[in-house]
Amino acid sequence: MIDMQTNFELRPVELTSLLRRAKILEHNRVDSLEMIKQDYPGLTSQIFRIIPTYENQDTIAPTSFILKVSHTDKRSRVLSNHLFDNESRFYEHLSPIIRIKTPDYYSGVNNCATRNLSFLLLEDLSSAEVLEENCSCTDLSSTVQEVAKLHAQFLQYGSGKTNSWLHRNLYSVPGERSLHRLLDREIITDDFRTVLLQVIKKRDQIFDKLKHLPRTIIHGDFRSDNVVIREAGGKRSVCILDWQMVRFGHGLADISHFMSSTFSSETRRLYETDFLTEYHKVLKAFTGYSPKKSDYLRHYKLSTLLEIIRILHGARYLIGINASGSILQKGIYRLQLAMKRSLTAIKDHNSLALV
Ligand SMILES: Nc1ncnc2c1ncn2[C@@H]1O[C@H](COP(=O)(O)OP(=O)(O)O)[C@@H](O)[C@H]1O
Ligand SMILES: [Mg+2]
Repeated sequence: MIDMQTNFELRPVELTSLLRRAKILEHNRVDSLEMIKQDYPGLTSQIFRIIPTYENQDTIAPTSFILKVSHTDKRSRVLSNHLFDNESRFYEHLSPIIRIKTPDYYSGVNNCATRNLSFLLLEDLSSAEVLEENCSCTDLSSTVQEVAKLHAQFLQYGSGKTNSWLHRNLYSVPGERSLHRLLDREIITDDFRTVLLQVIKKRDQIFDKLKHLPRTIIHGDFRSDNVVIREAGGKRSVCILDWQMVRFGHGLADISHFMSSTFSSETRRLYETDFLTEYHKVLKAFTGYSPKKSDYLRHYKLSTLLEIIRILHGARYLIGINASGSILQKGIYRLQLAMKRSLTAIKDHNSLALV
C-alpha cells in the first residue's frame, strides 16, 4: 500500500476496504479519490485531506477525511514512532470513551513496532477555526473548560491495567553527557541553559511539592495549534486534536503549557488567574476536587518550572529529526519563542524561589 521511499499513496480500493472495516461503507465503494497534502510543516507527521468519489453517490458516508501519516523519511519516522504509536493507541482505546470532542476515528494502521509507515484516518475538521491567541475570550475560556472536563473524567483514574500503554513520565532528564551535548547547541539560549540547570538541580524538590496533586489523563501538548472551534447551529464548540503526547500526569501540566505556549507574556498575564479559577471551577463541578486558590496558584507556579524540561525535549527532538528548510526554521522559531515565554513566566512568578 505504501511507498516506503518518498511518497504515500492511498488507492481507492484501499480506502474502500478501510471504510468497510469501519462500517462506513457496506456495498458502496470508492471510485476515485483526491489526496491533498496539507500545507502544514509537521515535525512528527504529514497531513492529507482525502476527498473520495463514491460509486453510489447517494450515501451518508463522509465527503472528506483527514489522513495523518507518519514520516516517509525513515530516520525521522524512527524518532517519532513512539509519538505516533501513542496517538494510534489513544484513538483505538481512549477516544471511544472520552467525553470531550476529538476527531472521530474511522480507521488506522499502526506499524510503529515494525517501524513501517503508520496512519490514522480521521474526521475532517478543516472547516473549523484553529484557536488563536487573539480569539475571543469566550473561545479561550471554553477551551480551558474543555481540558478541565478531560482531567475531571479521569481524575484519580489510577494506572488502570487497561491503559498500561499510557506513559507516566513527561519530565525525564537526559543523562549527563547527552544533556551537556544538547546544551552546547546553538539553538539553546544562555538564559534558558542557566534556568534549566537550576530546575534540574531542584527537580526532586519540585516533584515533591507537586506529588500530592491528583493524577489524571492529560493531553500532553495542549496548545492553540491543537485546538479547533466548530460552529454549528449558532453554537461554538471546542475540539481537541493531536493526541501524540497523551499520558498520565497532573492537570496543571496542560494548563501551564497552554498558557506559556499559546499566549504572549502580556496576554498570559491578563488571563492567567481567571483561567486557573475557571479550570478549578469545572474540576469542582465534575469531581468535587476543590483546592484553595492560594494552593493551586502555588502549584501552577511550580508547574511553570517543569515546562522548561519539556522544552528541552522539544529541542532534542528537533535536533534529532531530519528537518530542513521551512520545517526546521519554524521548529527553531517556535522553540525559541517557547523558551522566552516560559522564562518570562518563571520570572513573573518568581517560581524558583518556591523551591
Ligand atoms: N482531523 C483534523 N481535521 C482538520 N484539520 C486537522 C485534523 N487533524 C489535524 N489537522 C490539521 O493539521 C495540523 C497538524 O495536525 P496534528 O494532529 O496537530 O499533527 P502534529 O502531531 O504533527 O502536530 C493541525 O494543527 C490542524 O491544523
Ligand atoms: Mg499538532
